[in-house]
Amino acid sequence: MCGELKADDVGKIVELSGWVDNRRNLGGVLFIDLRDRSGKIQLVVNEEKPEAFETAEKVRNEYVLKIKGKVVLRTEQNVNPNIPTGEIEVEIQELKILDTAETPPIYIEDNDQTNEAVRLKYRYLDLRKPKFQKILMTRAKTAAIARNYLNEQGFCEVETPILAKPTPEGARDFLVPSRVQKGKFFGLPQSPQLYKQILMISGIDRYYQLARCFRDEDLRQDRQPEFTQIDMEMSFVDKDDIIAISEGMIARIMKEIKGIEVQIPMMRMTYQEAMDQYGSDKPDTRFGLKLMDLSDIVKDSEFKVFSGAIKKGGSVRAVNAKGAQDKLSKKAIKGLESFAKIYKAKGLAWIDVSEGEMKSPILKFISDAEKQAIFDRTNAEPGDLIFIIADTNEIVCNALGQLRLELARKLDYDLNDQYNFLWVTDFPLLEYDAEAGRYTAKHHPFTMPLAEDIPYLETDLLKVRADAYDMVINGVELGGGSIRIHNQEIQSKVFKALGFTEESAWRQFGFLLEALKYGTPPHGGLAFGLDRLVMLLTDSDNIRDVIAFPKTQNHGCLMMNAPAEAELDQLIDLGISVDEI
Ligand code: AMO
Ligand code: AMP
Repeated sequence: MCGELKADDVGKIVELSGWVDNRRNLGGVLFIDLRDRSGKIQLVVNEEKPEAFETAEKVRNEYVLKIKGKVVLRTEQNVNPNIPTGEIEVEIQELKILDTAETPPIYIEDNDQTNEAVRLKYRYLDLRKPKFQKILMTRAKTAAIARNYLNEQGFCEVETPILAKPTPEGARDFLVPSRVQKGKFFGLPQSPQLYKQILMISGIDRYYQLARCFRDEDLRQDRQPEFTQIDMEMSFVDKDDIIAISEGMIARIMKEIKGIEVQIPMMRMTYQEAMDQYGSDKPDTRFGLKLMDLSDIVKDSEFKVFSGAIKKGGSVRAVNAKGAQDKLSKKAIKGLESFAKIYKAKGLAWIDVSEGEMKSPILKFISDAEKQAIFDRTNAEPGDLIFIIADTNEIVCNALGQLRLELARKLDYDLNDQYNFLWVTDFPLLEYDAEAGRYTAKHHPFTMPLAEDIPYLETDLLKVRADAYDMVINGVELGGGSIRIHNQEIQSKVFKALGFTEESAWRQFGFLLEALKYGTPPHGGLAFGLDRLVMLLTDSDNIRDVIAFPKTQNHGCLMMNAPAEAELDQLIDLGISVDEI
């Protein structure tokens, strides 16, 4: 391969194929950089080889060539220390143009600035860039390491259907009409959740799959409508077994791909701790700026914004941006207030902690005793800036959680090369969906409640914690899973809590409820987002970069123009008519 040749190969006759990265004609001598998946090599040809030279003169960027030549050392002034093959070049003896190419609409180099829509339309050209070639190879290697590891651990890989019944993972389903059973639809799996649980009942006590999942939801930096999970499930295990297997896999991937030794066992934190300290269930623990509760201090404050919020059952919390005073202008602080308002905060109070006089828009509302107590609580020192939000617990935690991330960006914290893995455990089993006026499952309806919380299923649904766990890295949820319910009685209670009637539960999940009757081992599992893992491994900040053919924000493929209208006779076959919109 082009990029593999070294000084040791000098004297060898080699055959190479690849794309023309660049061609320079120095009058009588022609240099061509030939590129393939492994890298680049400089080729040289002069008029002493008239046939090859004549062909080389016709060569343009992105032509596909096959050459035969001799590896030689470059002259000293031509050595390029910036590329791995910079010491050598190949003297062309024979050259064949395998295909010509039009001038590409983008630059095939990593620092190409062409806008993304054009790049995605010409994705095959985009993928020729060294950066994307490396990402695709890292992705393949990651998958291979995961497979090897799980095979060694005695897991059995099983493929589950794509044409399935929708699985409840909280997003909308993609539906596929059935031609044979008109009027009926398959749902593409949001994950193989139900199949893998049924495989436990089938006796495949350690299952895994690199599973394609489909979710019709709004896209973000780290979300695609179709993505891949490293999905696993095990029988006769508890949470610690699943966590240990998962940690081993992630540690091996980090070691083999990044050369980084991950500390295991990883840190664990309960959901409640994560929310209280970081305002997030996927805390970025690379920096402090922890949330601190001031509610007890200001509950009787004259400042009604604070005391009022507490009286209504909410809270008042703060973060202390250490030494941030001279880094954030008044205008920047205003900007942070607007930022907090995106997350529904009604305002953002701040205190500028100084030696003598101190500044704050709420100074006149709070007593000296309150001020002192706030300083003690937040370890305030001159130069610090304290930010405070009062509201419902949910808004306070979320807005301050987001604010701490924004502060880390604005204050330019150096977060590179830190990999803070942790587990967040004991999630709430249910959430209350105020809009729909009912409870929904935080993970999915088959998650086992913590044993000590089962009585609350009858009395206080929001108190029930789940035996569920997420692996979090630097503020990103990399994977998540749970111990499942394998007992019909508990399953019925959870369905009831979710507002299913016996009849509606059976209609939707009858196959599972039936299967549970025939000897179900205790089981649990987890799924990692392969795409997110590869983002981490390749320092990519957008999920589209780690998927060969990704979708855009509006769920389209710009290269193939998908989705597209269907032919009328296809629709007739399917018994579908489409309204004009
Ligand atoms: P969950 O829904 O948490 O769990 O998904 C597991 C992991 O999949 C990744 N992920 C995504 N990646 C890219 N785009 C998306 N739209 C997307 N949605 C999820 C995340 C996430 O942590 N069946 C359960 C797992 C289990 O309980 O075993 C499940 O799917 O990295
Ligand atoms: P006001 O009296 O509304 O001008 O508010 C005085 C200060 O309190 C301003 O700096 C507001 O940003 C701040 N503030 C208002 N509402 C809240 C709130 N819910 N939480 C924190 N600070 C607030």
